[in-house]
Amino acid sequence: MRLQKFMAQAGIASRRASERLIAEGRVAVNGRTITAPGTRIDPERDRVTVHGELLRAKRRLYLALNKPPGVLCTRHDPGRRPTVLSLLPAAWTGLYPVGRLDRDTEGLLLLTNDGEFCLRLTHPRYGVPKTYHAAVQGRVDPSLLPALVRGVRQGRDHLKAERARLLRATHSHSLVELDLREGKYHEVRRLLAALGLTVTALRRTRIGPIRLGELPPGKWRVLTPREVDALRRLEIPARPSPAGAAPAHGAGRRRSSSRAS
Ligand code: URA
Repeated sequence: MRLQKFMAQAGIASRRASERLIAEGRVAVNGRTITAPGTRIDPERDRVTVHGELLRAKRRLYLALNKPPGVLCTRHDPGRRPTVLSLLPAAWTGLYPVGRLDRDTEGLLLLTNDGEFCLRLTHPRYGVPKTYHAAVQGRVDPSLLPALVRGVRQGRDHLKAERARLLRATHSHSLVELDLREGKYHEVRRLLAALGLTVTALRRTRIGPIRLGELPPGKWRVLTPREVDALRRLEIPARPSPAGAAPAHGAGRRRSSSRAS
């Protein structure tokens, strides 16, 4: 691992600022001052000191939480309403939600203290597929499903599902399953409302390869290394580029990670 990356992960400074500390001769590896940019270290074995102080690699955490309705997806609420962090051990102050769920939406939310992982998963370019179960008032006619996939325009947004299925339909209520990739503000509620449907409850059941499963509301679990790896290796979907234009940096199919709504 590059020295500046290790320093950033240990929380000493950003990568850029760490590079400056290295260039200024303030960093030593195993007692030897290092000034060369890009020096590689073994985080398990090498002793990195800054101003003589030993850096410890921060333990990186990746959690799946079943967010109950009424809980805010924020780290701190000035109104002292319950936040997702209040559902976690008090010592885990460095965690933040990967993307957001509305206050009234429940279900799967990922949290991490790995800033780079979070940025990649929430970057608009990546579009991780997510599944939602929307309970709506009244009987939904199956003939409405193609309209959910065609989508609707709202201002600059094109709201659309990648896939829509009717899981249940009685005269009083229906349950619609939707897969979306975009992660736009209130996208499921806005899409359904635009087609005349009233959402009574919304639950996210899947983010890419991670499923909510039997996790009870308000409970969390640590993602397995295999799950974290699977999220890291999500493929970036190809984006159409304007005719004749070179693809944007990083566009096209390749292995990497994505984003949550
Ligand atoms: N779409 C919504 O409308 N709300 C959410 O919380 C997530 C997706």
